[in-house]
This record gives sequence, C-alpha cells and structure tokens, in this order.
Amino acid sequence: HRVLLLYSGGLDTSVMLKWIQDEYDAEVVALTINLGQPGEDYDVVKGKATQLGAVAAEVVDAREEFARDFIVPAIKANANYGLDYPLFTALGRPLIAKLAVEYARLHNCDTIAHGCTGKGNDQVRIEATVATLAPELKVIAPVRGWQMGREEEIAYAREHGIPIKGGAETTPYSIDDNLWGRSSEGKWIEDLTHAPDDDVFQLVTRPEVAPDEPEIVTVTFEQGVPVAWNGQEMGLVELLETAAEAGMKHGVGIVDHIEDRIVGLKVRDIYEVPAAKIILTAHAELERLVGTIHQNQFKGDLDRQWGYLVYAGLWWEPLRENLDAYMDSVNEQVTGTIGLKLFKGNCRAVTRESPNAVYDAALATFETSGGLFSQQASPGFIELWSLQSRMAHRLRNR
Ligand code: ARG
Ligand code: SIN
Repeated sequence: HRVLLLYSGGLDTSVMLKWIQDEYDAEVVALTINLGQPGEDYDVVKGKATQLGAVAAEVVDAREEFARDFIVPAIKANANYGLDYPLFTALGRPLIAKLAVEYARLHNCDTIAHGCTGKGNDQVRIEATVATLAPELKVIAPVRGWQMGREEEIAYAREHGIPIKGGAETTPYSIDDNLWGRSSEGKWIEDLTHAPDDDVFQLVTRPEVAPDEPEIVTVTFEQGVPVAWNGQEMGLVELLETAAEAGMKHGVGIVDHIEDRIVGLKVRDIYEVPAAKIILTAHAELERLVGTIHQNQFKGDLDRQWGYLVYAGLWWEPLRENLDAYMDSVNEQVTGTIGLKLFKGNCRAVTRESPNAVYDAALATFETSGGLFSQQASPGFIELWSLQSRMAHRLRNR
C-alpha cells in the first residue's frame, strides 16, 4: 500500500504519519497545502515529514487558486453560515481534498488519509470530495478509529521520537486557519458560560486595546471581485492579506457563536476573520447599491442556500454551479468603491461610489422636487399599493 497523508505538521497528523507506516505496513506520501496559514514554516513541516519516514513530502502553494476559485465565489455570494461564519474552513476543504486526489494519482497511492475526527464537518467535506472526484481511492481517518486522546498521542509521540514542536503546538485550542480566517475550538470554549480568555485571539487585536483613532480604508470591486485597496491595484492574495492586516490592527472580525454542525452537534466556535469581515461588508454594501429592490430582496435567499451547501460539504453538487451562474450574473454590475471606517472592532461602510448605482441624488433629495419623480403621483400609488391591505382590514373589523 501507498498512502497519501494530508499532513499539517501538527501532533495528530505527525502521529498518523508513523502510525500508518506501522499499522498498515504502508509507505506514506505527505502532502501539505499552503492556503495562507499565517506564520507557517513549510520547510520545517516538510523536513519533519521526511524525518518521520515519508517516502515523499510535497508542499503545494495553493493560495492563488484558493483565492480565485473558492474565496471569490464566496464573496459574490456574500457567503456566511449561521450568524457570521464566512466559511474559510469549509471553502478550504474541497480544494485540499481535490489536491489530495491529484497528488495521490501522481504518486500512485491507493489511499488518502486525513486527520479529521468523527464528530466534525471536515470529514464530510474531504470524503465527499474524494468520493466524487476519485471513487477508486480509499479513505482512512485514523483519528476516528484509534482510541488515543491527546495525552496518549503525546505519549505515542515521545515513544516514537516524534518531535512535539513548541510555538503553535503549545496552544491548547484546536485551530484551523487560512487566508480567509481562523477558528479556535476546544478547552474552555466548550463551556458556554465562559467568556473568551484573551489568549484565544492570536490574530485580531482585542477591540479594547485597538487604536483610539479610526482608520478609513477603501475596497474597489470589478464585477464583484476585489481589485484595489485604498486605490492601489493588487493581486487577490496580497489584497486579502492587506485587508487582514488592517482588520487585525483595529480589532475587526471577532466572532463567538454557536454553530449547528451537519453531523447534528451544536458547537461553540471562536473565529477571527478580519479580511472576510471587511471584504464581505464592502461587497454587500456595493451590491445593494447597484441592485434593484427586487434583486436585493431575492438574492439573500440564494446567498443563504449557497452558504449552506458549501458549509455542508457539497461543493461539487451541481446546484452550487447553478447558483454561481446566478451570482456571476448579479455581480456583473458590482463595480465601484466602498469606504469603510475601522474602529475598535467595528467595520462600517461610510462612502459609496459606483458607475452602476441605481441612485440619483437629484431624485432622492429632500431639497427640491426633481425631474423624473412626480410627487403628485404618490397619493395614487399609495391608494393602490394599500388596496388589499385596506380591504382585508375592513373585513376583519366588520
Ligand atoms: N466549525 C467550522 C466549520 O465547520 C470550523 C472547523 C474547524 N476545523 C478544524 N479542523 N479545526 O467549518
Ligand atoms: C474535526 O472534528 O475534525 C474538526 C472540526 C470539524 O470538522 O468540524
């Protein structure tokens, strides 16, 4: 056997790297994917995989593809799940699994191994992707089967000479992160009565210690795609990183919510999503400006459907492509610039400019009675608009 292991360099997947070799008598190819995890040293991860016996260790920089093919569609769909989860993990998993399939084929592996537990969404996202794209490949998820807790894993690591790295590994939380955000789960987060300890926030400055001066930033979109930051054009990855930096500085993008996982569990998650908060706020604002009342009333329903599909691990479901066609169509008009004020955890639109705005200051003004709009027509409109409501009211109060 030859197993392609999705390898992060953390404790779980490092123990897996050894365990699979011993338990299955298999060769292991380690695959590590860079989706923009801040501060990760991929040379160290690769070296560790080789040291633990991987016959090959691949590192793939997939940031461009992630931004272009996964984050951009999410922006166009104003994608959120629950109160305010911008789906960074849910967007990353189908790409990670797709790359796992590609590299498994490249290295003649018959099996893909991942480090998800049996209680989460990620197992569904990864396995649904593999089953769709490569039904011939087997999937194993050792963490689901082995009865090791964290203490046993550490003992196993000591026994087998697996280095337990300092830094990131000493965080007590279960972390996932990429360009679009970071999640923390586990420990006191599972106690719903426990307000966040300061040490959970590793990206975003706590709002109470953020700068006392607000900052105004602008995001420019072309057909729904962010293309410039403060008037300066830049590539997507750089733009997302720049937005994240500004948000982190001003305490923007902290989420503490209860989430309904697709496997039935309710879980509390703490998210830090500075880039997503800024970009999604700007996008939604611009989209509302260029859309008609009818488009704006309708889109939220499909946005929610899109977010739920992707959350639920159905990235490859044809309905998602159908919805994307609609999102692309709406976003053809989403061109312009939104200014946002960032201040102590807040992010609020303060200026709007678009050649496609369905807005005419001369019509909307309180100052004078303007051209196209006839105020004399309003009483007739009100009479007809309220007709059925008035009839029903009269019937009920007969
Ligand atoms: N609750 C989020 C989701 O289902 C985040 C999951 C984080 N995953 C992880 N392996 N730490 O998308
Ligand atoms: C896991 O349980 O593997 C991580 C959390 C999730 O998948 O939702």
